[in-house]
Amino acid sequence: MKAFTLFISSLISIFIISNAIDTITKTQSISDGQTIVSSGGNFELGFFSPGKSKNRYVAIWYKKISIMTPIWVANREIPLTDTSGVLKVVNPGILTLVNGTGEVIWSSNTSSSAHDPIAQLLESGNLVVRNSNDGNPEKFLWQSFDYPADTFLPGMKLGKNFLTGHDRYFTSWKSNDDPATGVYTFRFDIRGYPQMIMMDGSSENYRSGPWNGLGFSGITYLKPNTIFKYDYNFSKEEVYYTYELIDKSVISRIVLNQSGHMERWTWLDRTQDWKLYTSVPTDNCDTYASCGAYGSCNIGNNPVCGCLNKFMPRDPKNWERGDWSNGCVRRISLDCQNGDGFIKYSGVKLPDTRFSWFDISMTLEACGQRCLGNCSCMAYATLDIRGGGSGCLLWFNELIDIRDYREGGGQDVYVRMASSESVGSNGKRRDRIIVGLTLTIGMLLICLSLALYVWRKKHRQRKRKGVVRQRSNIDSNESQKEDLQLPLFDLGAIVNATDNFSENNKLGEGGFGSVYKGLLEGGQEIAVKRLSRNSRQGLDEFKNEVICIAKLQHRNLVKLLGCCIQGDETMLIYEYLPNKSLDIFIFDRTRATLLDWTKRFNIINGISRGLLYLHQDSRLRIIHRDLKASNVLLDVDMNPKISDFGMARSFGGNETEANTNKVVGTYGYMSPEYAVDGIFSVKSDVFSFGVLMLEIVSGKRNRGFIHSDHRLNLVGHAWRLYKEGKSLELMDGSLRNSCYVSEMLRSIHVALLCVQQCPEDRPSMSSVVLMLGGEGALPKPKQPGFFTERNPLEADSSSSRDAPSLASGNEITITVLQPR
Ligand SMILES: *[C@@H]1O[C@H](CO)[C@@H](O)[C@H](O)[C@H]1NC(C)=O
Ligand SMILES: *[C@@H]1O[C@H](CO)[C@@H](O)[C@H](O)[C@H]1NC(C)=O
Ligand SMILES: *[C@@H]1O[C@H](CO)[C@@H](O)[C@H](O)[C@H]1NC(C)=O
Ligand SMILES: *[C@@H]1O[C@H](CO)[C@@H](O)[C@H](O)[C@H]1NC(C)=O
Ligand SMILES: *[C@@H]1O[C@H](CO)[C@@H](O)[C@H](O)[C@H]1NC(C)=O
Repeated sequence: MKAFTLFISSLISIFIISNAIDTITKTQSISDGQTIVSSGGNFELGFFSPGKSKNRYVAIWYKKISIMTPIWVANREIPLTDTSGVLKVVNPGILTLVNGTGEVIWSSNTSSSAHDPIAQLLESGNLVVRNSNDGNPEKFLWQSFDYPADTFLPGMKLGKNFLTGHDRYFTSWKSNDDPATGVYTFRFDIRGYPQMIMMDGSSENYRSGPWNGLGFSGITYLKPNTIFKYDYNFSKEEVYYTYELIDKSVISRIVLNQSGHMERWTWLDRTQDWKLYTSVPTDNCDTYASCGAYGSCNIGNNPVCGCLNKFMPRDPKNWERGDWSNGCVRRISLDCQNGDGFIKYSGVKLPDTRFSWFDISMTLEACGQRCLGNCSCMAYATLDIRGGGSGCLLWFNELIDIRDYREGGGQDVYVRMASSESVGSNGKRRDRIIVGLTLTIGMLLICLSLALYVWRKKHRQRKRKGVVRQRSNIDSNESQKEDLQLPLFDLGAIVNATDNFSENNKLGEGGFGSVYKGLLEGGQEIAVKRLSRNSRQGLDEFKNEVICIAKLQHRNLVKLLGCCIQGDETMLIYEYLPNKSLDIFIFDRTRATLLDWTKRFNIINGISRGLLYLHQDSRLRIIHRDLKASNVLLDVDMNPKISDFGMARSFGGNETEANTNKVVGTYGYMSPEYAVDGIFSVKSDVFSFGVLMLEIVSGKRNRGFIHSDHRLNLVGHAWRLYKEGKSLELMDGSLRNSCYVSEMLRSIHVALLCVQQCPEDRPSMSSVVLMLGGEGALPKPKQPGFFTERNPLEADSSSSRDAPSLASGNEITITVLQPR
């Protein structure tokens, strides 16, 4: 009899395995050694022993891959000590695991009963209990996705249901050998406005920041991508975050590992191994509250912690030693009764929202009023940053766990300040404070701010040097791989990508042809510069550009991806830069506010490094000849990239200057010796760069600049203000709240050195880069070239035409043939 039963059960197990049965019924249980497999074969459920352990657990793992990767464990806390376990479904619908003596080791927490319950392993990896004869196969009495372990699979929801109170969150394993609940949890914190937090036992160690409509404030890399789509929902009923794979054949999972990281892994068939894609916390600045209250963490700085502007360390001694936990305090305390104000900080990860209040329909202005009206409100911000912003988020505690994403990402927060700190902080006032003439403020304060100033100066200097050194290493690496072959694109692919050069995709147009935006099949965005068929003249420039730029690789130069020459089509394919060109920002009153001083200074530095590379570091020495705001493109993070090499000339190693009878360039940016005599050298680019810097600082165009007092252009105006010691008046009004006076003055000074009349007097780009990054004394500039309103060529610009820039611009590149 015994032998017979054994025979039957092994028959059943063979049957189960070979036919990949995905359900457990009341009559069909599974015991150790048997498994069930989801219908498409993605997942398998059975008994296993983790790591070196001898204990047995019921688990689900990937069926199709060679590395045993459990994604869910049933009896996490209570292991089976031998192979006698049996998993079965009992009335009224409870999935039960019993051991050899019939003791229940684990059971599902099924809420309602069923006539004919079955357990089924779905293709998503979800183990469900449902009624076998239920018309709706989506109606689950219980599902493992509601009780996740450490793995976040596609289709799972992380979050809380407010109606049932059920909370789905992840808990780490104790160790590789023990799937019992470890110390880390990752869940939604709904004490204030929802945010995801990771806890290490009872202490917070990482926070995603609140959802801002597009992503979480503190996870800047979460962006639309080719691997997965994500979704967030916050309503009266529930809050959750979920994701789905775009290509369902990809195997990808997120796991909360045993040392407290949410890691995203993707299976690579080629290597037959898991590849780590992302993990949070990412760096030291992700550690919860690493800089204390009102401290701000910037991973690019050394040390990473700083106080928010107009705050100072609460405990300066320990702060200096690197213990930032006490955070910062306001330089001038709040005085709610006599009226406070707000200061805006841009590009930050919003502070901990645990003690927050929100309203999804309030405008930012009403939000500010609301905050102002309640003395315990410390800050406010826009809730949803999409489409100009909506909603209101208020903070009622010290602002903690702020990150500075100045290099890109982050959002605005308005922090409550004493009115003397927050209003009228324009250039003059700040000037006075920094010069230290405000005798009205007590002696103590002067000492304090001086100490702070010196500290900051040292701190920034250190940071700059680090950056410059690091960059130049990369540059020299990049110049070594110069011999790149330029990929050829297929015309059909480009036609597809640009929707047959549709008008909707057009970015700009000029004499050489048009520029289109395109989307390649793989999802890559491109900009296509298409030469018009009848543009014979353009062909030389085309070749020139191909030759020049194909060999150039630098983070501050726009990247040429390839070209397409087929039939009578000639096209250049570039990386697409979503933020278009610099002129669109700096010369537009509203968009100018998007570029605060830090961003602008970063742009100035980026352009200078790009130019330095062209002039010096690349093996070909290249003179751009048409540097202007519309030829500087901006990437998503507002990093500048020099574009349009149609006019560029390359030089032999020793040549430094050349003469041409064909003057090309743009009025307002052309140096005198070039416009008048056709002599160009690296110093003509330096001149254009100087003009560009003045434009970036002032937000005004050199050409077309109008002033009521005089008929000078922007260069002349800057020169005049400099001589009168009033350079700060050049500053774009929108920079008032964000500028570092010393950086601004230095930039103007360097710009004036660049636009000096004599090319020999102008600094080389390598000096410019050093001067911008340093703190030392600068030489006095001499009189600039072309500082009056009229320039000699303006009268006969009849031969001017538009050059197609990668983004639309309205400066005109001209060509003038000169008799020699
Ligand atoms: C079954 O579990 C009970 C309670 O945990 C235990 O006392 C018993 O020894 C177990 N039986 C076997 C065969 O492991
Ligand atoms: C089972 O569900 C009940 C309510 O439905 C809940 O109170 C209980 O905590 C749950 N138990 C587990 C282990 O999830
Ligand atoms: C969020 O979920 C609720 C139901 O819980 C639903 O009514 C609402 O449409 C969802 N919102 C979004 C944006 O998906
Ligand atoms: C957890 O993830 C982090 C980041 O990927 C990694 O450095 C660490 O080694 C992982 N810990 C374990 C125990 O796997
Ligand atoms: C300020 O806001 C807090 C938190 O919402 C609230 O408890 C308090 O009553 C408010 N105070 C006033 C004066 O409105």
